[in-house]
Parts: sequence; C-alpha cells; structure tokens
Amino acid sequence: MHENIQHTAYPVVEKAGILWAYMGEGEPPAFPDLDCFVAPDSHVFAFKGFIECNWLQALEVGIDPAHASFLHRFLHDEDPEDSYGKQFRGKSIASDIPMTKILREYPRPEIQVEETAFGLRLTALRNLDNQGMHVRVTNQIFPHGIVIPMSPEMTITQWHVPVNDETCYWYAVFTSFTDAVDKPLMRKQRLELYELPDYKPRLNKANTYGFDPAEQEDETYLGMGLDINVHDQWAVESPGPVYDRTTEHLGKSDVGIIAYRRMWRRAIEAAGNGGELPMSLSNGEGATIRGPAAVDTIAGLEGWEDTWKARDRERREASGWAPDPW
Ligand SMILES: [Fe+2]
Repeated sequence: MHENIQHTAYPVVEKAGILWAYMGEGEPPAFPDLDCFVAPDSHVFAFKGFIECNWLQALEVGIDPAHASFLHRFLHDEDPEDSYGKQFRGKSIASDIPMTKILREYPRPEIQVEETAFGLRLTALRNLDNQGMHVRVTNQIFPHGIVIPMSPEMTITQWHVPVNDETCYWYAVFTSFTDAVDKPLMRKQRLELYELPDYKPRLNKANTYGFDPAEQEDETYLGMGLDINVHDQWAVESPGPVYDRTTEHLGKSDVGIIAYRRMWRRAIEAAGNGGELPMSLSNGEGATIRGPAAVDTIAGLEGWEDTWKARDRERREASGWAPDPW
C-alpha cells in the first residue's frame, strides 16, 4: 500500500536566501529579474518578521511615502556614518543632509504614481526650500511586494505573505550595489528586535511597543524607540487585525494606496473572467521585468526627472552585476 500512496508536493526554488514554493495549477510562472534575484549571493541578505494583522494592511504602509515624516520622525540627527543597516538614518545619494532632517523638516511630499509593467512606481518629491529637490522613488511589485531604497548602497525588497487572514510575515531582502553585505552585522541588528525561532518582535502589543512618554518628548515623534520596524508594526496592528475599510477616508497622500487597490479590483475581475493576471510571467518573460530603480537622492529643481535615473544608472554600472532596467 505504501508504494501506491503519494504526498502532494510543490515545486520549490531557493532564491535570495528564501525558499519559494509554487502552490498553483500547472507550470510555475517565471521569476522576474528583480535586483535581489540577480545579485550575487554575497550582496543579498534575507530576514523576516511576524506581524499580527492582515497582510494587505501591513503592505500598505510601504506605499505611503508621507508616513515616514511622522511615524519615523527623529527629533535629533545622529552621525549618518553610524547608519549602516538602518533605514531613514543615513544620507540621500549626492547629499550632505541627514535623512532624518529632510523627513522632519519637509513632512508633506508631492506624490506621483505611475503604473508600470510590474505594478506601481511612486515618486515622492520634497522641495527643499528651492535649494534642491529631494526625490525618493519606491515601487510596488504586484501583487504583494515593494522595492524601496534603504541607503545610497542598498535597497530593500519586501514581500508580505499571509499566514492566515489575521497574521502575516514580511520577508525582506537587502541588496547591496557596492560591497558585499555584512550579513553577521545585519542579522545581529535585526535579532535585537526579533526572537527566534518564529521571528516575533520583542516589542509588541503586549508591552505597548515599548512606548515611553519621556522619549516622545525629546527624542522621537512616536516614543517607541529607534527601530522603524516597531513604528510600522504599531501603525499596522493597532487598527485591529482586519481594518474596516468601509469607514476610512483616503486623502491626497493616499494616492499610491488608491492606485494599488484599483489594480487589485482589475486583477480580481480578470481572475473571475479567466483573464490574464498581472505578473504571471511565462518562461522568457522574466527578463522583461528588471530592477526596479529604487532611489533616494537630491537633485536640482529643474531636471530632477533625469537626475534620479542617472544616479540609479551610475550605481548599476559601478556594481558589476545590476542590469539596466530602462
Ligand atoms: Fe514605515
């Protein structure tokens, strides 16, 4: 009898330090040539974290370019040289201004959103008192990924994967365009917050995310420490595990979220009609999705549209491995 019984098995591929299983019908779709998938193993570092809310809720903070000016606001600047492995703490490309200062002093970016072959490109513009334009380009990879800049050297590619309706894991791949990633340091930094084996955060709802009113008075806007993952965790978990979207009021800074939900509606409709789904790439189509460019830089008020692309291209050319996405 044991020779006749078979267990269901799914095709699994290891890429960028993560195991990917295809649990659908037929042949698995091709992987897109995202930077984190084509970078050498020495230049990528993967980590994950547990979040106690629906995955869509957790993702949407990643396509809201305005939230960093409030949720991640630091009231003082530290030496950007100490910012390795941390987000929103170093400097933009071609800039001497600490990122913390830009976010704090220019809290209302103009957000432009465009649909692309992979999802959405979001461009957040902060006019620095006519001295220059802070340009931050982030991406939504449909259906459940984001690619954002972390520092002049690194980007973060992140997926929000449901465990069930009320919990999810975020999986992050840090990709370096310059030196190999210091994986032991990155892992050590992240394990200060996350506990093994299930990658649950030590600061969470049960201990009010470490909230400290004295810190809120003179260190951070939120009063929940310096790790931005704690801030995001609080923001996405505190409305409850499945937020009631029928009562929300989307505003001007939610333009990315609005565009994203429209894409979802179209995809759900297509799935119902047996139509083609976005990002279900056939073999050979993987290389049509490259990059995408995720850049944080300061450009001139005129020509910033070209400058950020040029900065991205320079970084790719110097990397020795990153293909041009344009
Ligand atoms: Fe955030």
